[in-house]
Amino acid sequence: MEKREQLYEGKAKKVFATDDPEKLIVSYKDDATAFNGEKKGTIHGKGVINNRMSNHLMRRLEKEGVPTHYVEELSGTDTVVKKVNIVPLEVIIRNISAGSFAKRYGVEEGIVFDAPTIEFSYKNDDLGDPLINSYHALALKLATREEIETIKTYAFKVNDLLKGFMKEIGIDLVDFKLEFGRLSDGTIVLADEISPDTCRLWDEKTHEKLDKDRFRRDLGGVEDAYQEVMKRLMGE
Ligand code: TMP
Repeated sequence: MEKREQLYEGKAKKVFATDDPEKLIVSYKDDATAFNGEKKGTIHGKGVINNRMSNHLMRRLEKEGVPTHYVEELSGTDTVVKKVNIVPLEVIIRNISAGSFAKRYGVEEGIVFDAPTIEFSYKNDDLGDPLINSYHALALKLATREEIETIKTYAFKVNDLLKGFMKEIGIDLVDFKLEFGRLSDGTIVLADEISPDTCRLWDEKTHEKLDKDRFRRDLGGVEDAYQEVMKRLMGE
């Protein structure tokens, strides 16, 4: 499958048309941003790691019954995906307090929850991705009631599976962000990516951060952390 015209360039990926109207090619970049694009940088090798890791995880999720946009890995940075209409919601699941949760509710990071939480942000850069609830999402016509129910069910299922995959490699899954899309027939599938850019991953013993917080918070060792996760997960 060949790349045709570039349709879109985002903060971390480019999207290209293909000769199949139902398929796109996503190309992952080494560019990193944080705080709605205010902080910019490069994480060398991130494009390849995020592409390969996201594909690995999506293949495993698909086997366990979670439909995804994944079709075929083309190269280190490029992947064929099913064309979807993205539901403009960032779906965030948390198992342990961190990040904006800790800040918003004035609690320390690292509190292990009795049950996972779910929250939605309205995916809108101009508004800074504001937090919303499912009634707001319905009022804004971002998704139907049925779609929101499906998305919640898949998000918690992804959490159960991903928590297990990470535990096998000595990592605690703190929180993560998912995005979903609609195929042309309306089927909801998991889209976007699952990577150290979109998850908080802490070593279960040392609690060392192995994710994009190293970039967001200027902790150093960003590339090494991404490499470490990839090595543990995929043996390389
Ligand atoms: P938060 O604590 O900043 O709300 O982030 C929760 C999770 O969502 C964390 O794993 C990082 C991820 N995330 C993204 O993937 N994209 C974003 O734009 C933001 C703000 C968070």
